[in-house]
Amino acid sequence: MDSGYKVSDSRYEGVEFNRCGRSGLLTSPVTLGLWHNFGSSDDFGKAQGMVRFAFDNGITHYDIANNYGSPDGGSAESNFGKILKKDFAAYRDEMIITTKAGYYMWPGPYGDGGSKKYLVASLDQSLNRLGLDYVDIFYSHRPDPATPIEETVDALELAVPSGKALYVGISNYNPEEARTAHEELDRRGIRCLVHQARYSMLDRRPEEGLLDTLDELGMGCVAFSPLEQGILTGRYLNGIPEGSRASGQSVFLNTEQVEARVGVATALNEIARSRGQTLAQMALAWVLRRKTVASVIIGASSVDQIRENLECTEKGPFTPEELGKIDDVVESFQY
Ligand SMILES: NC(=O)c1ccc[n+]([C@@H]2O[C@H](COP(=O)([O-])OP(=O)(O)OC[C@H]3O[C@@H](n4cnc5c(N)ncnc54)[C@H](OP(=O)(O)O)[C@@H]3O)[C@@H](O)[C@H]2O)c1
Repeated sequence: MDSGYKVSDSRYEGVEFNRCGRSGLLTSPVTLGLWHNFGSSDDFGKAQGMVRFAFDNGITHYDIANNYGSPDGGSAESNFGKILKKDFAAYRDEMIITTKAGYYMWPGPYGDGGSKKYLVASLDQSLNRLGLDYVDIFYSHRPDPATPIEETVDALELAVPSGKALYVGISNYNPEEARTAHEELDRRGIRCLVHQARYSMLDRRPEEGLLDTLDELGMGCVAFSPLEQGILTGRYLNGIPEGSRASGQSVFLNTEQVEARVGVATALNEIARSRGQTLAQMALAWVLRRKTVASVIIGASSVDQIRENLECTEKGPFTPEELGKIDDVVESFQY
């Protein structure tokens, strides 16, 4: 049912889109991720408000996975499906919507891992929850050491001619695994468009060969947790506030992790200040400085956070001195 919500006519003003690898697909530099804050225990109106704000401000790219949503995995897809139906039925063609399968989703041997059996069924379930005929990108959420990559690729391959996904991608693969997946898909005439990798000022593993491999293969990188779940923002600079991810029951971010990193975050905040940015904006700009990175996927718990983060592209490029200072600060802390 149409909600009567009217999208902003100025939504694309000032947005510079990035090309995802050697492909025709452009993406907004900021992607909204729905891992947290879109589940059945979250405030639906708030979640809807964040998607409306994101779309009205040029975010075209929305990232989900089959298991997102708390307490019941899948509820983020169901809630996003409701938002799409209510507000964006006429705007599907202006959105990149992605989903993934690879982590635990349902009991028994066919609801986890990298088998064709799991991924094919999961994509159907995701489309059902989302209320969509197709997603733009279907990802293998992680490599499964017990399943040959060739089999996981069988499922990705099938998604494209069946019309259930326009593109396919991989996530959390190391450079060798990424190369194998790309080659296998290429052999079958399918483009492996994108790799979704964790990348931030504090987690530089993609610089150890992955970004170079993606460049060589013509794949784009979409970076997740670029704010280290809130550590690289103003969120924890003065303690752990009520309602923050670290203050709750999250198994992904605890108070010890925050306390161990508040020193480095405070020092980085000073550099951000000297650039005339917030720490969150500098953290996102730092990841986006690499041309291979087509987009940064942010999580958010409020419209204000999205507003602040969207301004990450407003300052000029980093000077070599600024990059050097960031490296020195990060290297000087144990965390
Ligand atoms: N492929 C994978 O394996 C994988 C894994 C993880 C995530 N992802 C994707 O990446 C997305 C982002 O992950 P993430 O949530 O870890 O990303 P993140 O952007 O590093 O952290 C997001 C959290 O930081 C805080 N935050 C964001 N902007 C802020 C601001 N301006 N000021 C203060 N606090 C701010 C919010 O926490 P509070 O709740 O405390 O406000 C927010 O929920 C996910 O939604 C998902 O789509 C993919």
